[in-house]
Amino acid sequence: MKNYEDKIKDLCSQMTLEEKIGQLQQCGPSLVGAFDVSFDELLNMMFDGRISQEEFNRLMGTAKQDFHEEDLRAGKIGSYNGVGDAATVNRLQKIAVEETRLGIPLLFGYDVIHGFRTVTPIPLAESCAWEPELWEKTGRIAAKEATAAGVHMTFAPMVDVSKDARWGRVSEGAGEDVLLNGVYGAAKVKGFQGDDLSKEDAMAACLKHFAAYGAGEAGRDYNRVDMSMQRLWEEYMPAYKACIDAGARAVMPAFNDINGVPCTVNRWLLRDILRKKWGFDGLVISDSNAIAECVSHGIAENKKDAAKQAIFAGTDMDMSSNSYIECLKELVEEGEVPESVLDEAVEDVLRIKFELGLFDNPYQTSGERESQAMLKEEYRLIAREAAVKSMVLLKNENDVLPLKKDARIGVFGALAADKGQMTGAWSIGARPEDCISILEACRERGISYQYGENLSDIQRIADESDVLVAAVGELKEESGEAASRADITLNQEHLSLIKELLGTGKPVVAVLFNGRPLAIPELAEHVQTIVEAWHPGVEAGPAVLDVLYGDVNPSGKLTVTFPAATGQCPMYYAHINTGRPGGKSKFTSKYLDAPVEPLYPFGYGLSYTSYTYGDLKAEKTKDAVRVSVSVTNAGKRDGDETAQCYVQDVAAKRVRPVRQLKGFEKVSLKAGETKKVEFVIPLTDLSYYGWDMEEIPCEGTLRIYAGGDSRTELMKELIL
Ligand code: NOJ
Repeated sequence: MKNYEDKIKDLCSQMTLEEKIGQLQQCGPSLVGAFDVSFDELLNMMFDGRISQEEFNRLMGTAKQDFHEEDLRAGKIGSYNGVGDAATVNRLQKIAVEETRLGIPLLFGYDVIHGFRTVTPIPLAESCAWEPELWEKTGRIAAKEATAAGVHMTFAPMVDVSKDARWGRVSEGAGEDVLLNGVYGAAKVKGFQGDDLSKEDAMAACLKHFAAYGAGEAGRDYNRVDMSMQRLWEEYMPAYKACIDAGARAVMPAFNDINGVPCTVNRWLLRDILRKKWGFDGLVISDSNAIAECVSHGIAENKKDAAKQAIFAGTDMDMSSNSYIECLKELVEEGEVPESVLDEAVEDVLRIKFELGLFDNPYQTSGERESQAMLKEEYRLIAREAAVKSMVLLKNENDVLPLKKDARIGVFGALAADKGQMTGAWSIGARPEDCISILEACRERGISYQYGENLSDIQRIADESDVLVAAVGELKEESGEAASRADITLNQEHLSLIKELLGTGKPVVAVLFNGRPLAIPELAEHVQTIVEAWHPGVEAGPAVLDVLYGDVNPSGKLTVTFPAATGQCPMYYAHINTGRPGGKSKFTSKYLDAPVEPLYPFGYGLSYTSYTYGDLKAEKTKDAVRVSVSVTNAGKRDGDETAQCYVQDVAAKRVRPVRQLKGFEKVSLKAGETKKVEFVIPLTDLSYYGWDMEEIPCEGTLRIYAGGDSRTELMKELIL
């Protein structure tokens, strides 16, 4: 990366106090007129279901928006959130460049979470592909489209490890494992940023939410995080570190507190760890309104106090709370905040603007580029590939799938006809008309199907069909931000539909559309076939049919545990054993009214062939453990299998998880073919933290497991 330090210092030295503070201000457009609410509030309204996404898009398109141009001209705005069209971006940029005293260009941020117009599967879904190249590729197309619409920075990736399926935002990350989140996040950073941030199609990645947002108590959004430092460093921090190492140029502190100190004002987190220990010199931008919310947290007296704490802690830019713009001047003039502290924040803002090439080329897009950039056929193909690879075959009794080409199918459930719902949470740029529903895809393929809209249609359609397909699950508003659920079972309407379908005696295929693991014991027990399709994006219909008809052999594997009951949450594979591991006898760690085991474990997923594992070998070298295992495609169809390697430190100085993922590799295997897969686990990846936070090397017996999911029994012991 080019060094801009002299230019940054020089520019900073020319700035007035007001201009400096202006650079730290990010705002969004407010909507005026009949709908006099801020952009943030409008977003909230969409997320909590007061308005639909379609309504949101319509309002954004038609309502008069106030972009605070007067403030912009006066040098009081450094960045915008939520402006995603080339004409507006260029118009505002022109004001910044031509009408402000120093002509400093604006930075435009946007939530590009899983695609911009070409909406790809939600991150949780895509993580089930276990394929870094794919994650990078979809990140790249998101960047190409978003930058064409004027976006310079995306508030992604989210790598908040989440072990609690109740949390709605589990949909936005790569699930419950820390290694997987790190690999996923690093691939996204590369995809978003490309090989040179100054290129027009590169957008800065803003890693979030730092840190441990996914560990909120009881899976409730925004809730407290109280955990040991050992656990924080072993099970959460490595995912963020992997993204910093991959070069993410921005970081968003999380809403939550960690052990009593909200991340937004957490000096230890943002200065000691992020900047000093990890060497990060990019931009730290608060979450929306998070600085002002430190008052509600009960850690700041008022906005001014919150602003002071945040700037000292190292939060450079204020998203939407106006705390900096309202209070920093006074704080500096009163001598409460030294100007040098402010300068550091301003330098971070200028640095990312230089790196993005905004000073040389402030207008990085045009209406023409924008109009040609979206939803290209090649992007749709990638979206379809991603959707297919995300889907997890949970059950397939009697080989109901793949369907025969001439099978007569009955399709049920409103989600089968829905387009808007397929894009899932956080797909602001999505348009329902871009999306292909299941029914449309059936028509396009010339499939002989009947669609039942009412329960009264069921028997007639069943009589005339060979297989019944039920589209059930969650609405997209039921996952994502502010969408935690105290009950993660299927709703009554969907359960009744399934029951009625089963009553016909015809084989039932349940296709699940959801943003989190669901507790579906009724389905697991009675329905013959279950396909977890998640919220698959614009190519939902074709991708579902690719899997149902076996054009592609399903290969997705769960990156989150599916509990059998909500009350088991948080339920995750890398738990510790306790002195009395859950078992048959009464006095063991379990519930009276729920099984010990989950419904479907982490790493699990079926295909239309079967795989066997054998010949597991492990040896210790000077600085690593080397593992090899053979994987055989023992069935009759070619397929892709993700081989996984887990370890257990059997007797350590602190209790250790029963299993921890240490490596994975996806291999393509022809029917009957065997391949050897190797994993190299650096010894440093096996160490852990002691009571005093000293790092302890792993010693003694290490159990090494390899196989197709986290419950594999294939094991080798190695003495370290
Ligand atoms: C709140 C969310 O927590 C964060 O993830 C998002 O990027 C911001 N709002 C901006 O929309």
